Amino acid sequence: MSDLKAAKAQTLELIQVIDEHNYRYYVLDEPQIPDAEYDRLMRELQQLEKQFPELIDPDSPSQRVGAKPDQGFAEVTHQLPMLSLDNAMNADEFIAFNRRVKERLDLTQDCEYICEPKLDGLAVSLIYNKGLLIKAATRGDGTTGEDITLNVRTIQSIPLKLRGKKIPESLEARGEIFMPLSVFDDLNQQAKNEGTKGFANPRNAAAGSLRQLDPAITAKRKLSFYAYSTGLVSEDLQLADTHLERLMQLQDFGLPVSSEVAVVANSQGVIDYYQKIQDKRQYLPFEIDGVVCKVNEIKQQEQLGFVSRAPRWAIAIKFPAQEEMTKLLDVDFQVGRTGAITPVARLEPVFVGGVTVSNATLHNMDEIERLGIKIGDTVIIRRAGDVIPQVASVVLSKRPEDASSVNELKECPVCSSPVERAEGEAVMRCTGGFICDAQRTQAIKHFASRKAMDIDGLGDKLVDIFSELKMIKHISDLYQLTAEQIAGIERMGEKSANNLISAIESSKSTSLAKFLYSLGIREVGEVTAKNLANHFLNLDAIRAASLQDLEMVEDVGPIVAQHLKTFFANPDNQAEVEALIEAGIHWPKIEKKSDDELPLKGKTFVITGTLENISRADAKIKLESLGAKVAGSVSKNTFALIAGEKAGSKLTKAKDLGITIYDESFLIKLD
Ligand code: IVH
Repeated sequence: MSDLKAAKAQTLELIQVIDEHNYRYYVLDEPQIPDAEYDRLMRELQQLEKQFPELIDPDSPSQRVGAKPDQGFAEVTHQLPMLSLDNAMNADEFIAFNRRVKERLDLTQDCEYICEPKLDGLAVSLIYNKGLLIKAATRGDGTTGEDITLNVRTIQSIPLKLRGKKIPESLEARGEIFMPLSVFDDLNQQAKNEGTKGFANPRNAAAGSLRQLDPAITAKRKLSFYAYSTGLVSEDLQLADTHLERLMQLQDFGLPVSSEVAVVANSQGVIDYYQKIQDKRQYLPFEIDGVVCKVNEIKQQEQLGFVSRAPRWAIAIKFPAQEEMTKLLDVDFQVGRTGAITPVARLEPVFVGGVTVSNATLHNMDEIERLGIKIGDTVIIRRAGDVIPQVASVVLSKRPEDASSVNELKECPVCSSPVERAEGEAVMRCTGGFICDAQRTQAIKHFASRKAMDIDGLGDKLVDIFSELKMIKHISDLYQLTAEQIAGIERMGEKSANNLISAIESSKSTSLAKFLYSLGIREVGEVTAKNLANHFLNLDAIRAASLQDLEMVEDVGPIVAQHLKTFFANPDNQAEVEALIEAGIHWPKIEKKSDDELPLKGKTFVITGTLENISRADAKIKLESLGAKVAGSVSKNTFALIAGEKAGSKLTKAKDLGITIYDESFLIKLD
């Protein structure tokens, strides 16, 4: 295109279209076009701007990332102070707040409240002049903050230009900038891969990203934003009479507001909201640390006023902290079933995320190195939702002089066999095999477990006792136990001894797949074991298979094939397998199923949501092994949808199309 006038018209149109899509995506949460189409529009705009640089509008969506500023961040004095919030740490403290509000307002009934998630990020003030974003500042000390305009311009959900017909002369919006959890996880994974420190939590990550002097770096961090109040606005804008309506005014100007915001009639409504959000918390795509409860009527807010630096009309009701400080007392090493040695942090007990934590896994030596952790250090423990507690970081300023390093092990702490760490692997392994008490005990526990040989009554505790009393040195010794021996153990009566003996006896009748799985071969899970059994049909064929043969099996790659080969090449394992079969373990002969016998042949399934007892990948393999096809989206050709927890649009669509819906018990029944 060479005609400047036409180019100008097209540029303007593209800017308008892209801004509209941004608004739909970030504010309404209703994208209208696929991402690829959006990217295409953006590229078209960039192309035009490249060809006609004189057409570049500084507020064009393509101009979010500008040049580096020459110096650091300038100071900004807030037009109205940016306040903070008082905290309620529990329901009683909130009830006291409600009582104070009622007294001050001279009410007999509770007032209306607006509840919002308390976003765990950083407060920001955004100033729009004639609809254009001209300044963004941090809260700082509440009076003076830092000018972070260039960085804030890179945040896609913050409009550079307000929308609507009646744009005020000036408008200040306030809200929270935060890092979505998915971005945080990616960032930390990347740090882990690069062997660098990463951030302890999304809040620190957001802060670190905003304080970058190069906006291009901030842009990469994909921060997000929700508005939670207005600041100073010019007189030509008539602000509404309630907080909710004011938020909706901001939303109409194109500023995103959390869809979790809700108005409730009274204090009980606030408590219900708090409960609801707490349950929802682990599914939200961003971190929140509580609920902010605000009096909804602006008149009442004004009547209540402020105390020092916080309003009397709002309170933050906090969730129990997910991060606490404690001391690292020691690092122990645990030996697992396959010999993998895991360092475990022994901690001074600390209440975090609703539970008392005294241990946390340190994963492996790389993690210890990455954290730079020493025994005696003060550490930050993090437990979010149901996630296992993690050591998030070390507080270096509190390191005592006698802090001692955690050394890599040379010997297994249980059996003193040499420890190996394979080239390129982070995991240390005990080479002791069955000599190692820890490996043996874990292997027996696995062998007896429900999905393996399913020996009823042989729980972990009893295995520990058998092991301590040296009653079992090999798995196959289980089948030599007598009722008298068992009854001799403290707190084991004759009846339970007899029951256990008959459970051991009936476990002898099993399937090849279960037997293979119960051997605890590295990376051979239930599904792989089943695939191996269905492919080779008998144990001898598996034992004799070459690496290539093994790799023919679905789900078996070179690593698993090598683990299988190594396992069956080991003379101790060979003897053990023989002894087990000698003891009477048997299974029915597997007949190769012809295609016609595959019960799900020709049927297409879709899996959605979170399954509790099986991973999505394993569920897929299971269905496919019975002849089914597994597709990614629901259509009229779908035979059935298997829906787990949190199933979303696929479930809705399946319902609309009248497709059969199963829960995961359908998969279990296929066994
Ligand atoms: S209102 C006068 N609403 O919490 C009221 N703050 O502890 C000022 N925050 O500095 C804040 N989510 O950074 C408000 N929905 C929300 C919030 C929220 C997070 C942060 C904000 C503030 C801090 C106060």
